[in-house]
Amino acid sequence: MLVMSILVLNGPNLSRLGKREPEIYGYRTLDGINRELVESFPELFFEFFQSEDEGALLEKLFQIEDKGGYRGVVLNAGALTHYSIALRDAISAITIPVVEVHLSNIYAREEFRRKSVISEVCAGVISGFGANSYHLGVRALMGITLEGR
Ligand code: DQA
Repeated sequence: MLVMSILVLNGPNLSRLGKREPEIYGYRTLDGINRELVESFPELFFEFFQSEDEGALLEKLFQIEDKGGYRGVVLNAGALTHYSIALRDAISAITIPVVEVHLSNIYAREEFRRKSVISEVCAGVISGFGANSYHLGVRALMGITLEGR
């Protein structure tokens, strides 16, 4: 049986989860969220990567595309969501499906957060379910894979 590898990719400031504006982003740390994913989906292989640096995120996407064997990416791009055309172009440039996730509901927040420049090139968007957004993102990727897309 082919083991599905999923990259969980987090952008700027998500390393601060647990301490950062917990009333918006919750009290769970990124390590805690990642651990729960491993526990919830023992049949999957996860790779976790977080960076404050836009370029490092792009390089990671190209690295897994070239390496092969990845069935999808669950991406919380943080603030890059709202302005990074470079990230959008990188998602367009790879064939691996990317699911955009957010802890908070970006459509219920400040005006500048209501626009995502990456949504159009992602397979779909999950926003507003706290740490559960990541779990739903993994489920969404499994559905895409089962449909053979
Ligand atoms: C976020 C929402 C973004 O607007 C913000 O810049 C983040 C986190 C979320 O998970 O809700 O860093 O992506």
